Amino acid sequence: MNHLLGTDTLSREEAVSLLDSAKEFARVADQKMPKLPALRAVTVVNLFFEDSTRTRLSFEAAAKKLSADVITFQGQGSSLSKGESLKDTAQTLEAMGAKVVVVRHASSGAAHRLAHSGWLSSSVVNAGDGTHQHPTQALLDAYTLRERLYGENAAGVGLDGVSVAIVGDVAHSRVARSNVHLLHLLGAQVTLVAPRTLAPKGIDSWPVNYDHDFDRVLNAGPDAVMMLRVQRERMRGSYFPSPREYTKHFALSEDRFAALPEHTLVMHPGPMNRGVEISSVAADSPRSTILDQVTNGVWVRMAVLYQVSRGGQTA
Ligand code: CP
Repeated sequence: MNHLLGTDTLSREEAVSLLDSAKEFARVADQKMPKLPALRAVTVVNLFFEDSTRTRLSFEAAAKKLSADVITFQGQGSSLSKGESLKDTAQTLEAMGAKVVVVRHASSGAAHRLAHSGWLSSSVVNAGDGTHQHPTQALLDAYTLRERLYGENAAGVGLDGVSVAIVGDVAHSRVARSNVHLLHLLGAQVTLVAPRTLAPKGIDSWPVNYDHDFDRVLNAGPDAVMMLRVQRERMRGSYFPSPREYTKHFALSEDRFAALPEHTLVMHPGPMNRGVEISSVAADSPRSTILDQVTNGVWVRMAVLYQVSRGGQTA
């Protein structure tokens, strides 16, 4: 694996191998061992043209735990304001020694462009491109589910038969797209819940069920509900229900949380808008995996950086 651009190009074997590798990195970290030397003398460039808290800092932490040198570029305050292009920006960072480029960009397809245009010889990891893909988020979500459900027996297995409801602004969510591909690959059953105006085009061809009635889906007792943020910044002229109507029908409110089956896990990729798509009671409960997802993101990103920096070698 030279690049990680999306979950749609992963095989089940590759996905399980990445999750297993992340589990091994978590085990080593638990033993409070010093930094691993795996990426010593490798430079990882974080190329963030769009805002981020979790993903950028998590990639930084992951690279440092593997002893890589890390350079972080943020769009704000850079020469983008002087008209510098994606190509020139990326080539400038590669000229400083980058071997792995982690990119977040508002345009769907930006990571693919960097990987396949011939502009760079570095490995490219997609840290979120427009509404398209966010593969490391989906991998850390799958990792978190696997750990919560199977614990010590998680290594080597997928998520066969696990039911996951993904709820909210699916149309604008790269997290949802990456999760649909990966969860399906790992054998999970996915139900998308969204207002009709925020259901993605072409959903009929996706390997999912679709429902606009959140309460009906909750009554079926899914193993996990993954709440999504409403991405107003990506809405250009699309109809959106009023915030009050949205919260009434699609939020994991205190009442809905109280009615959830005991076993249902509560997930959110962050950042959350508390009181809009999720109540604090749900977000802060012991059944919430939200902070576990953040922690697990470091192990998953260590696995991805390690894998892409080794190119095609899997051993
Ligand atoms: N989940 C996620 O991508 O969060 P950030 O935008 O903070 O990176």
